[in-house]
Amino acid sequence: MITKKMNCKLINLKYFDDKNSTLIAIEKQVNCPFEIKRIFYIFDVPKNTIRGEHANLNSEFFFIVLKGECKIKADNGKEQKVFILNNPKQGLYMDKMLWKQMYDFSKDCILLVLSNTLYDANEYIRDYNEFLKVSK
Ligand code: TYD
Repeated sequence: MITKKMNCKLINLKYFDDKNSTLIAIEKQVNCPFEIKRIFYIFDVPKNTIRGEHANLNSEFFFIVLKGECKIKADNGKEQKVFILNNPKQGLYMDKMLWKQMYDFSKDCILLVLSNTLYDANEYIRDYNEFLKVSK
């Protein structure tokens, strides 16, 4: 049996250290695997709050923790991977059709999210059992 590998990976971002500081640029195909159509950011998340808990039919995401730390879990219905994000020099790419959870946010965490789509509530699957059915 061939099982599809989960397409979710940490990408090290090239950075420029000069003037006693650091600059990182995100560009399509250079370090972000898709053309960016949307940017949003999440912050002030209380301890014990879980965000996400959905899958997307079309959206891919690229997560970068600008400050602080959080965990992101990806689930393709068969396996799960947990990533600890606490380094703005890394981004987490996540393909469409992965169930995702973002949790264990530090108080100061700022999570930047890039996507290949414009927001469309209809492409969200918010029920885990439905996700399992659709992902088969
Ligand atoms: P939601 O997808 O539930 O956030 P999370 O995945 O972090 O738990 O979105 C929260 C609210 O923000 C919801 O009312 C929809 C709205 N929203 C937009 O209007 N545009 C967007 O690009 C996103 C991601 C959310």
